[in-house]
Amino acid sequence: MENQVTVFDHPLIQHKLTFMRDKNTGSKLFRELVSEVSMLMCYEATRDLPLKEVEIETPMASTTSKVIAGRKLAFVPILRAGCGMLDAMLSMVPAAKVGHIGLYRDETTHQPVEYYKKLPSDISERDVFVLDPMLATGGSAVDAISIIKQSKPRSIKFLCILAAPEGIRALTSAHPDVQVYCAAKDEGLDKNCYILPGLGDAGDRIFGTK
Ligand code: PRP
Ligand code: URA
Repeated sequence: MENQVTVFDHPLIQHKLTFMRDKNTGSKLFRELVSEVSMLMCYEATRDLPLKEVEIETPMASTTSKVIAGRKLAFVPILRAGCGMLDAMLSMVPAAKVGHIGLYRDETTHQPVEYYKKLPSDISERDVFVLDPMLATGGSAVDAISIIKQSKPRSIKFLCILAAPEGIRALTSAHPDVQVYCAAKDEGLDKNCYILPGLGDAGDRIFGTK
């Protein structure tokens, strides 16, 4: 399980995360921070993309140089909060296609309820990055990934900002083939299955609802 989870302890990510956690941070800044952290996470999570050499002409000489070797990516945010990570990911990889999975947690049972699904038609040729800032019980991530797996993508990575130990256990045992990336592992969950110390309700903080 340990090798399946990568925590990005880069100082810039940790610094920005502190301001995301602060309850006095308003929606505008919170959204900007989600974007900035997502961009930095994208940079790290795409580190293993294969490269190939191509011939090019600089203004000075002919040379060989490297480009990404034809790997096609798809980004799949889990609605709503995952959408806060999407633009940053697309700014790094503009050629990626985008799918959406709509899930919300039932307030009493905390179980995910699916309400929307739209995935790229060629997802079976793509490496998928599932986006959701919060991995709490893991129910939403486990279900979203099970739904995506029905379309047989080449691979799946899960990117979140905060992960609770309960969510990591649920996700890594349900999907041992999915690499998980987060900016921090938190202490646990409260009685309403919110992450502690966490950052509150990510969707509400991104979209200013509440
Ligand atoms: C949040 C979050 C995850 C889920 C995590 O979404 O964005 O999708 O909870 O919790 P879990 O790991 O226990 O499933 P929420 O259900 O609040 O929906 P929203 O994004 O529409 O607000
Ligand atoms: N969803 C959130 O937005 N925050 C949590 O702490 C748990 C689930």
